[in-house]
Amino acid sequence: MKILVIGSGGREHAIVRKLKNSPQPCEIYCAPANGGISQDAKAVDIKADDIKGLLDFAVKEKISLTIVGPEVPLALGIVDKFMRKGLNIFGPTKELAMLEASKVYAKQAMQRFKIPTAAFEVFDSPDEAIDFINRPLLFTSGFPVVVKADGLASGKGVVICKDKHEAKKAIEEMMVKKIFGKAGERIVIEECLEGEEASILVVSDGINVVGLASAQDHKRVFDHDKGLNTGGMGAYSPAPVVTDELYKIIIDRVIKPLISGLAAEGKFYKGVLYAGIMVTKDGPKVLEFNVRFGDPETQVILPRLKTDLIDLCFASIEDKIDEIKLEWENKSAVSVVLASGGYPGDYKKGFEISGLEDALRAGSPDTHIFHAGTKMSQVTSDVGADLCVRPRTYITDGGRVLNVVSLGNNIKEAISKVYKAAGKIKFEGMHYRKDIGHRALGRCR
Ligand code: AMP
Ligand code: GLY
Repeated sequence: MKILVIGSGGREHAIVRKLKNSPQPCEIYCAPANGGISQDAKAVDIKADDIKGLLDFAVKEKISLTIVGPEVPLALGIVDKFMRKGLNIFGPTKELAMLEASKVYAKQAMQRFKIPTAAFEVFDSPDEAIDFINRPLLFTSGFPVVVKADGLASGKGVVICKDKHEAKKAIEEMMVKKIFGKAGERIVIEECLEGEEASILVVSDGINVVGLASAQDHKRVFDHDKGLNTGGMGAYSPAPVVTDELYKIIIDRVIKPLISGLAAEGKFYKGVLYAGIMVTKDGPKVLEFNVRFGDPETQVILPRLKTDLIDLCFASIEDKIDEIKLEWENKSAVSVVLASGGYPGDYKKGFEISGLEDALRAGSPDTHIFHAGTKMSQVTSDVGADLCVRPRTYITDGGRVLNVVSLGNNIKEAISKVYKAAGKIKFEGMHYRKDIGHRALGRCR
């Protein structure tokens, strides 16, 4: 069976590895892939947003299953286009991808289905938005408030504003200066929730859902949640903040009302649904929905999943999620992201990466390295008359470069292993958080 994975990050490398370990023989392709993925799958030089290119490739190669990593192709309608050609593809349609691609669409759905979330208002005009933040009692909680661009802004379109001045600045940047282009023409202003965050991912066939293991992401760049927001600096699974009881509440109050509410409107959500949850003192509330696997959550969820991913994807596509029972390794997984100097701001690329083999040995057994921003070097040099070809190595090619993931019998063991492994890897400017899993550790004491 030929399988195409779309994307080029750590999440896609974790998906490719999981497919590689499937008991079902498969030929794996990945578009556009990265240095590490290209060692585990056939790299296809087509960008993730080139829907026509991907469709032509899938038709020509007779791809049996396509798994979409990032949100952009889903928001561009890749699922609708593949389905029209009779191709199997795992993910939601263009309309339902709006749950991630439009904050307003998501908020309105939560309102219709009475799903707990922050109080909010929607604005199309900067004057009305500024007028609103000048009101004495904008939300019962007052400031801080959260200003969100409606559309996709590569994870940067959310600003937590501690006072009126910060809120006004965020509104002007999004709606007047248009720093996120069309994505910020419309905004949501919402109440700021307090608590601990968790990621709950489920797979749905439009009617039934099966829950994946809970996880927690670490979004800020520096230890103790300091510094700018990033695409994610590390994660762990399971997340002890999500007790079995809380998990059930989230499924009953968030996931099921959304899936069944949409189904009653004739919209059948297929694929992964990711709920970003704030566990507040009043119970779980939804921060956001994503319509895909999380990154870096997938890097800690899939290595713990014993069930075959191919079966899970086909159960979603063929409306058989009620027949699937997932099995998990009873272990904790921790992932640490190794990032380029300067990330999430400007950074340089092209530095040689060393220590990957040593890292796998130091974290053995059960340590994995999933590549994100890497490519293979093409180093050749002339030495006298001879052309000397040095062995190819990996070089940095992005902000988040590598994910080191270790499994342990408990979170403490997984953390100790992952840092032993990460400590062996080197590239110029490399930085990473040293406190991944600190909240889980705190709960174990
Ligand atoms: P979003 O893209 O909506 O998930 O927002 C990205 C991050 O911003 C979340 O993971 C939270 O850390 C934070 N965030 C978003 N909305 C809120 C909110 N209403 N209250 C507090 N933090 C929020
Ligand atoms: N880990 C956050 C995300 O995937 O959006």
